[in-house]
Amino acid sequence: MARETAFTCTDCGLQSAKWHGRCPGCEAWNTLVEERLPAAAPKRGVGGGARGRERRPALAARPLREVGAAPVERMSTGIGELDRVLGGGLVPGSLVLLGGSPGIGKSTLTNMALGYVQESGRRTLYVSGEESAEQVRLRAERLGPGALNVPILAETDLDVVLDTIAAENPAACVIDSVQTLNCAELGGAPGSVGQVREVAGRIMELAKARGIAVLLVGHVTKEGALAGPRVLEHLVDCVLQFEGERERPYRELRALKNRFGSTNEAGLFEMRQGGLVEVLDASARFVAEATRAPGSVLLAAMEGSRPLLVEVQALVAPSELEQPRRVVSGIDRNRLALVLAILGRHGRVSTAGADVFVNVVGGVRVDEPGCDLAVALAVASASRGVPTTVGGDGGSPRACFGELGLTGEVRWVGHPERRLEEASKHGCEGVIGPSGSGGGVREAATLREALALALPARSRGPVEVAA
Ligand code: TYD
Ligand code: MG
Repeated sequence: MARETAFTCTDCGLQSAKWHGRCPGCEAWNTLVEERLPAAAPKRGVGGGARGRERRPALAARPLREVGAAPVERMSTGIGELDRVLGGGLVPGSLVLLGGSPGIGKSTLTNMALGYVQESGRRTLYVSGEESAEQVRLRAERLGPGALNVPILAETDLDVVLDTIAAENPAACVIDSVQTLNCAELGGAPGSVGQVREVAGRIMELAKARGIAVLLVGHVTKEGALAGPRVLEHLVDCVLQFEGERERPYRELRALKNRFGSTNEAGLFEMRQGGLVEVLDASARFVAEATRAPGSVLLAAMEGSRPLLVEVQALVAPSELEQPRRVVSGIDRNRLALVLAILGRHGRVSTAGADVFVNVVGGVRVDEPGCDLAVALAVASASRGVPTTVGGDGGSPRACFGELGLTGEVRWVGHPERRLEEASKHGCEGVIGPSGSGGGVREAATLREALALALPARSRGPVEVAA
């Protein structure tokens, strides 16, 4: 008799006939769950008649040059930042997975996008498995007139949802969320690996056949991975991550995977009373809010193709713990460990016995090697109690960029001229960067040179943490 159940890893999607405490695929513990296999092999292909077993003749392969590729058609969502992260708008027939923790604004963003698409004269459909139609309406009331025109279907049964999509034939469709839809033929609770994979697969078939652009909303686990189904990330054309801190208004949208565009782009939003508003002058805001006190420096970062000035703050305080604290927000923790080691070894700034806190202000995350120098200067400035400003106390804010090498050198990073231009535009002088950055940048070949440029005020003997 054929097997009726299988064990599936909720992290990597691996299927196994036996239960394992540790997944043989991804080595995660306790992630295998038992799931019922579909009663019969899923029906695939059109017609469903002959089972296509007879051999097909060999085909002639052609050089790629001769393959006709029509330019990808795009549909604007009416939200500039979202369009940019998508690579120019939604692609008909494509699947976009939008992940983010609860309350971050996924429903708001997708509802607004559909509102604009609907306003532009295209058909849309909002499928809500999570909230009732009334709840979605209450939100839409806050989002302006377009959002209220979006047709809604509050339903969790996959077959009903598919039939409705086929009947409505929208140009753009939102499924909020993919984890709430339920395929009746398949066992397992909604949101389990098998369910989510089947739901997404069936929706994709329909979307590709009809040329519907689908936005799948997905939840994110505590660890930050898209809940359960990593398998979905392989299936869809584009994976977007919506992040930020719930207590703060800034929200960042990033592409983790994009078959139709770059994964370097990030869009910045602010959550307001009337929904999400694009933040186009982010640098100006962060510069205006920067403190200029010791422990603060501006980082001329690149967010994809766009320069962005953010304030990096550090606090260095004597620790009572055997293992001093290293707390970061907005940068990678391991990056801080590396920078502190380089500072100690090559910059004569020791943080042993001190708690170190580093924060990128505004809840923004910087994910590029160019942030090393800013972290180092902020920590050194905090440790010495000397501001990094140009011209001492009350001077103009200092900006910098550069990667730190393990031997204490400042390494070249991309787009120095665009970083410098952005810093100059917002009134920063004496921008410190790696050698080879070009005219206008105060070049530092090593961390020591950078420290001498940024913190010249006091004599630079061996520095211990102020106790
Ligand atoms: P929501 O889109 O429901 O989040 P998600 O779908 O990711 O769970 O938005 C959640 C939060 O946004 C909620 O706490 C209320 C807030 N919000 C505003 O501040 N302004 C608005 O105009 C809207 C619609 C929501
Ligand atoms: Mg929601």
